[in-house]
Amino acid sequence: MGFIDVNGVSFSLPDGRPLLADLAFRVTEGRTTALIGANGAGKSTLLRIIRGELRPDEGSVQVDGGLGVMDQFVGTGQTAPGAAHTVAGLLVSVAPKRVRDAALELEASENVLIERDDTAAQMRYATALAEYAEAGGYEQEVVWDHCTTAALGLPFERAKWRDLSTLSGGEQKRLALEALLRGPERVLLLDEPDNSLDVPGKRWLEGELRATQKTVLLVSHDRELLARAADRIVTLELGAAGNTAWVHGGSFEGYHRAREERFERLDELRRRWDEQHAALKQLVATLKVKATYNDGMASRYQAAVTRLRKFEEAGPPEERPPAHEVSMRLRGARTGKRAVVCEALELTGLMRPFDLEVWYGDRVAVLGSNGSGKSHFLRG
Ligand SMILES: Nc1ncnc2c1ncn2[C@@H]1O[C@H](COP(=O)(O)OP(=O)(O)OP(=O)(O)O)[C@@H](O)[C@H]1O
Ligand SMILES: [Mg+2]
Repeated sequence: MGFIDVNGVSFSLPDGRPLLADLAFRVTEGRTTALIGANGAGKSTLLRIIRGELRPDEGSVQVDGGLGVMDQFVGTGQTAPGAAHTVAGLLVSVAPKRVRDAALELEASENVLIERDDTAAQMRYATALAEYAEAGGYEQEVVWDHCTTAALGLPFERAKWRDLSTLSGGEQKRLALEALLRGPERVLLLDEPDNSLDVPGKRWLEGELRATQKTVLLVSHDRELLARAADRIVTLELGAAGNTAWVHGGSFEGYHRAREERFERLDELRRRWDEQHAALKQLVATLKVKATYNDGMASRYQAAVTRLRKFEEAGPPEERPPAHEVSMRLRGARTGKRAVVCEALELTGLMRPFDLEVWYGDRVAVLGSNGSGKSHFLRG
């Protein structure tokens, strides 16, 4: 088994701003459900609520099956304090709980042993070693070997002390994904796992998501990945009283049509509400005039006023959420000046020497597979 139930979850930010309003949906067993929405809509926050890191103001979350989590920011520098710094640390952090605890205790007892080599320290180390073996630590190292080989092209023994910050963004994500997909947890929360994966990496992830038996809740902004890997789509829609969830029970293929139909329905409901509102106001106005010279009309006038008040109190139906207009302005004139000049630039082991001239106003895309040295080039 493995599923997530989100029951009427509402959440406000520390400054009191309502972020999530009455969310309800189920992430079904063995399926990949996508969670999508604008930047800042609250997707990562909702994942933190689901994993029990934040408490909702109202509602509850039920998770059936062990939970494996991949944060939006995997590498160091962007993660919370206390997060893993090495390849081994990252793999340990997403390992099954018993192995994880045993590995952490093994490391701690090793460190004590280095400090002072007394009987107590030796005992603790021996116990930790035994527990590591019993917890399946050595079997897990075989899994880790697969992970580092796939993500970095290195066996675990050679990769384990690498600082995470020395891996490329895509390598970090690939490593965490390999570990989670091969891990024991039945339910995975993946926050933008495809972000910074190169094209082959994305294709690999799509295939894995389609093949896996696990229950997955996936945050992504990539339409292609959504189209290929998601069975259901939950959209966080922006609303003044907190963002709400709209569930599309099918894949991304029919998503836009379903969404258009939903908007048309909402527009239609709103049109009808406006018409009724106008008619009621008209009735009140007419009866008011009549009531001034006909006492018999006073009670009808009062009844109409009450009806209008109740109608307005009930409020208009849900509105079509605001559309996101994304517009780009790329401007800048050529000034005839060189901004960057590289001559026979070589990044040892990464790129062969090359020349490059970039002029003011130029827009240059740097493309390449994960780990090919794009960020190194920009840093240089
Ligand atoms: N502790 C906090 N204090 C104040 N604001 C917060 C806090 N945590 C989150 N927010 C705000 O809540 C909103 C939702 O953040 P969240 O990270 O959940 O968005 P998201 O949907 O994951 O966005 P993205 O697509 O950019 O990752 C943002 O406006 C964020 O600034
Ligand atoms: Mg996020």
